[in-house]
Amino acid sequence: MTNVLLIGAGGREHALAWKLKRSPSIGRLFAAPGNPGIAEEAEIAALDIADGAAVVAFCRQNAVDFVVVGPEKPLVDGLVDELLAAGIAAFGPSAAAARLEGSKAFTKALCDVKSIPTARYARFDDLAAARAYVERQGAPIVVKADGLAAGKGVTVAASVDEALAALEDCLAEPGSSVVVEECLEGPEASLFCLCDGRTAIAFGTAEDHKRAFDGDKGPNTGGMGAYSPSGLMDEALVERAMAEIVRPTLEGMAEAGTPFKGVLYAGLMLTVEGPKLIEYNVRFGDPECQVLMMRLEDDILPILMATASGGLADVSPRWRDEAAVTVVMASPGYPGAHRRGTVIAALPPESDTVKVFHAGTTLEGDVLTATGGRVLNVSAIGTDVGKAADAAYEAVAQVDWPEAMWRTDIAHRAR
Ligand code: AMP
Ligand code: GLY
Repeated sequence: MTNVLLIGAGGREHALAWKLKRSPSIGRLFAAPGNPGIAEEAEIAALDIADGAAVVAFCRQNAVDFVVVGPEKPLVDGLVDELLAAGIAAFGPSAAAARLEGSKAFTKALCDVKSIPTARYARFDDLAAARAYVERQGAPIVVKADGLAAGKGVTVAASVDEALAALEDCLAEPGSSVVVEECLEGPEASLFCLCDGRTAIAFGTAEDHKRAFDGDKGPNTGGMGAYSPSGLMDEALVERAMAEIVRPTLEGMAEAGTPFKGVLYAGLMLTVEGPKLIEYNVRFGDPECQVLMMRLEDDILPILMATASGGLADVSPRWRDEAAVTVVMASPGYPGAHRRGTVIAALPPESDTVKVFHAGTTLEGDVLTATGGRVLNVSAIGTDVGKAADAAYEAVAQVDWPEAMWRTDIAHRAR
């Protein structure tokens, strides 16, 4: 039996907790900080996850064998390094390897070294030089803040003026830098890979909806919904992306002395010339993780442990034939300032095919309230993406939360 501590508090971590709890080899399952949904699967640990020494001490006191880190922040801050140094096995990359998400400039430099297909780019920390470059290149052009920006630091500028304004924003803080990229064209899909430092295996495809409103309009969000598998990536295309993008990345990271272990989430643009890398994340997507966990047939725990211990060469995960869809229900106003504390009076009954993962919920006594931006992840499986979406929306209709906002067209691209 393996005692596990899961780090995180979102829908992604609720899905991981739900799947971990169903592992035949799970012992005690702890979570920090957790949320009311996670609390149904795991023992919540009163723990400051930013305090690595406290996490190590908790693991020692509670005989935790394995730590699974969900979000990027503790990874970039080096939590896995601290755990490994203390002799505690952990799932997720080191801080040095997490730079694949934390620094776009780092990733772009690696793409250069390993000839990985991606948008042409230039990096600046000087506004005048950046302006001159943008004026020379013309629009459309893409401006990205360098550093962790949670998907909000990207401007796809249709005009030079818009690009210049974005440059000023990105370079306002002293010491900041900006990446200016060629604008790629094509549909987008996400490829999830597990990497053990040497071996990378594909771990499912998905598409998400980043914009707040129907028709993929409105401001960018952390993701308003997702579905898996992506209808855009067949096995041959997955294999091509593994060969041209993911495996060279893993090789480059190993050669640099910073081998990558954990989830590598490749955001791809499927251009007429083939798949090109838009960005890497070094953790599961949220809500993409929810659809992957709904579809994963196998026990997740040995897969995560093999990733951490270098044993992926022997792993080939099995997936249900069905598709999965997650619809995110959010607080009114999200992604701007949103109202907190509206009451969720009822959730739909759960079944083998419908599951509601919690993100920003709080339980006060026995009243469930919405305290975060993204609050519920209503997830369903079905024989195809359309049927899974229908089932998810049937469940959304049964949520008694009058103030909720959600998109009504999740998975429209796949219908
Ligand atoms: P990122 O945070 O890097 O994933 O960027 C957010 C979104 O901006 C992506 O999902 C794309 O839709 C878009 N984007 C980023 N880079 C490019 C690019 N080079 N060309 C076109 N669109 C891009
Ligand atoms: N859903 C996008 C992300 O997790 O980055």
